[in-house]
Amino acid sequence: MRQQQIFERACSLIPGGTQLVSRRPTQYASGVSPIYARWAKGARFGDADGREFIDWVSGIGAVILGYCDDVVDQAVCDQLRQGTIYSVNHELEVELAEELVELIPCAEMVRYAKGGGEACAVAVRIARGVTGRDKILFCGYHGWHDWYLAANLAPGALDDHLLPGIDPIGVPAALRDTALPFPYGDPAELEAQLERHRGEVAAVMMEPLRSQWPPEGYLEAVRELCDRERVLLIFDEVSTGFRLSAGGVQPVLGVTPDLAVFAKSISNGFPMGAVVGRRDVMAPAASMFISSTYWSDTIGLRAALTTLRELRRRDVPATLKATGQTLKERIRQAASATHCPVRVSGLDVHPQLEFELEPAWRNLAATLYIQEMALRGCHGYPSFYLNAAQGDPEIEQTAAAAKETFALIAAAVEDGEAGLRARLRCPPRGDAFRRQVR
Ligand SMILES: Cc1ncc(COP(=O)(O)O)c(C=O)c1O
Repeated sequence: MRQQQIFERACSLIPGGTQLVSRRPTQYASGVSPIYARWAKGARFGDADGREFIDWVSGIGAVILGYCDDVVDQAVCDQLRQGTIYSVNHELEVELAEELVELIPCAEMVRYAKGGGEACAVAVRIARGVTGRDKILFCGYHGWHDWYLAANLAPGALDDHLLPGIDPIGVPAALRDTALPFPYGDPAELEAQLERHRGEVAAVMMEPLRSQWPPEGYLEAVRELCDRERVLLIFDEVSTGFRLSAGGVQPVLGVTPDLAVFAKSISNGFPMGAVVGRRDVMAPAASMFISSTYWSDTIGLRAALTTLRELRRRDVPATLKATGQTLKERIRQAASATHCPVRVSGLDVHPQLEFELEPAWRNLAATLYIQEMALRGCHGYPSFYLNAAQGDPEIEQTAAAAKETFALIAAAVEDGEAGLRARLRCPPRGDAFRRQVR
């Protein structure tokens, strides 16, 4: 395949070959799955070898309306003709801030960034600056910056939150013990950590949920603990985005953090990030040095403003829920018709597949799933990022592909581990992101 050759060229010029770990070929069925895209429209994209795929990864969560959404792209094109960046500011910054304040319960003031990790770093800076404390207790994945990777200066801290074995090369050793992980779903453990580090913790930073509902009362307990210990609570909503509601997760969960971070789906794939929060927490950021040229770029701002308005106008969260419900149902039917040992779980807006096999076999089955689905024109892994352009044709094709794929996996499982390996045309996929918050 031509894209294998492109990737070889990339590896000689770009350390690691790609800019994002989740876009490495080893995250999929390497040699079978697409590596390079040429175009994307709606729910589909074409790769560098001329093949077409339904995309169940939605730009790693960045696309929520569908690729090249006509309304967002038109707004961006119009903006492009007016200029993308200036020596001065543009009123769009204020308009978008007004929209975010209206939509998101904790939002009274807003700052911008160009991506999720960057926005998380801004939130952490504000939390440290406003409290005068250094430590961050975190749960989940929050980007690539020093503050977060510093956790692994105590080796293994990120194993359950990101990937096992990450060496925090290049992160100053002096940051050791400034970022400390806590397990999801266990308020007693968080309480113990807050007590152990009393007076030193600036913020609890967490993904409030990912693809499962939080345990009953858990986030309320986290909120109470933060209040009691006078620690800021930050929700990282980069991955959940605006899929559960046009105001993010807060209106659905009924728990309001002090700060929240958004990126990815906020702008339907254009680079953008935002930190929003309570006035008394955000306002002191005026005297902190948090400043960057492209944070005023009007393309991300215009894309975000248009995306948020379109999300509401089209009631996209309801569409995604309906798509997810049907998809889950159809995939469940495919699993039971083929006696494939796979469980379909997850929120309707973020369905997941779990192969019910012994641990050593699970990754082999997941790789075989990715491979066989790719061969049938469906790009993805055993979890689905939905967007509003996916509809009945995509569900039909995916359900049919899943039925054939599950039949193949069921037959492979009959032959044991060797059977699974024998059917792979690629190496087993590399370590998938570990998710503390599932
Ligand atoms: C919850 C969460 N936070 C932060 C990030 C980092 O965002 P970005 O890749 O835009 O820097 C991600 C990316 O997947 C994420 O899922």
